[in-house]
Amino acid sequence: MVDERIDEWRRTFETLTLPAMAELGRELLEEARAPELAAWVRGLRRRIHQHPELAFQEHRTSALVRAELDALGVPYAWPVARTGVVATIVGGAGPGPVFALRADMDALPIQEMVEWEFKSKEDGKMHACGHDAHVAMLLGAAKLLQSRKGGLAGTVKLVFQPAEEGHAGGYHVLREGVLDDVDAIFAMHVDTHLPAGAVGSRPGPFLAGAARFTATVTGKGGHGATPHAAVDPIVAASSAVLSLQQLVARETDPLQGAVVSVTFIRGGEAFNVIPEAVTLGGTLRSMTTEGLSYLMRRIREVVQGQAAVGRCAATVDFMEEELRPYPATVNDQGVYAHVKAVAEGMLGPVNVRLSPPIMAAEDFGFYAEKIPAAFFGVGVRGAGEEMHHVHTPHLVIDEDALPVGAALHAAVAIEFLNKHASPVQALSID
Ligand code: NI
Repeated sequence: MVDERIDEWRRTFETLTLPAMAELGRELLEEARAPELAAWVRGLRRRIHQHPELAFQEHRTSALVRAELDALGVPYAWPVARTGVVATIVGGAGPGPVFALRADMDALPIQEMVEWEFKSKEDGKMHACGHDAHVAMLLGAAKLLQSRKGGLAGTVKLVFQPAEEGHAGGYHVLREGVLDDVDAIFAMHVDTHLPAGAVGSRPGPFLAGAARFTATVTGKGGHGATPHAAVDPIVAASSAVLSLQQLVARETDPLQGAVVSVTFIRGGEAFNVIPEAVTLGGTLRSMTTEGLSYLMRRIREVVQGQAAVGRCAATVDFMEEELRPYPATVNDQGVYAHVKAVAEGMLGPVNVRLSPPIMAAEDFGFYAEKIPAAFFGVGVRGAGEEMHHVHTPHLVIDEDALPVGAALHAAVAIEFLNKHASPVQALSID
């Protein structure tokens, strides 16, 4: 009976709040676009852009985040996973439900080729994946949320995470337990396919799970003129490479995305010497985490099986400790629908796009495995310009995206708390 009344209350609440949600969204966007706040967020992004830091080395970025949080009066936990910072804003109505927003902080080992005033000052390092923008947007959201703290119907955690690029920072943040009480989590990534002012995502699997492998096929070296006296690992490794292609072509549902790419093979150096061993390796990806586990199991079997056919031995290594495989990023239907509704209210339905699934991977997949989650792309393509994509030395992003990201972060969190606070808590808010 009580449940029914709460359900009824929720339905009434939702019909009443949809127009109010659009209003709050537009108000937040207007506030984020106001010259002073927009200039502050842009300035943060530029400062971070000039001093990119690689995975787990984000000391300067982390210090910048903490200084800004101190200035805003937002408390935080630090260090989380070495350089990470997790800030907490508790609303006036008490802790209530907990919603998390996440930004990654690390840069890439790329030499920036864009000539502009705020070009990277660190040789061979560049924010070529837009994580500088992610940090700035989340600090912008911290400011918007902190100024509305009294009216928040619960708690917002802001996760400034290290080491997204290859080093599974998200996994390490989760392991520290700082997000154990989180009810749902949201993150955005710059998207060079969308114009500034638009966002996009899709329900269910959005980004692939990814892992890497290396294999060593060992035979017995010998003279190239007497192959019968040797055990040739080059022929065995070649068979393995060809057989690996069948894992996608013959063992994966054609409607299910998967990739096995052998990207290097090394063995031998002389014209007349059969080498002792060959090493090879590459990447594997799948739109589901189960699909990724299947590929890992079969890659081992196929390489070892083909080595055995060629009288060789083989070892296969997925380097799981140093380079932890990333699970697929799967958007929770409910959190996805929530973000979509908030974004439509703020930006207009035409600016909220359905994105195709992509084979790139993200360590946000670790959060999505544990917590209902949604991951969205935030458009950064400038009008009429040729767009260079992320992970290239030519990436330029349209900074008009920054207020959009800051406002959307804040609106998604506020509305989630409004929706999920208990009726008593929500009604106690003015
Ligand atoms: Ni990235």
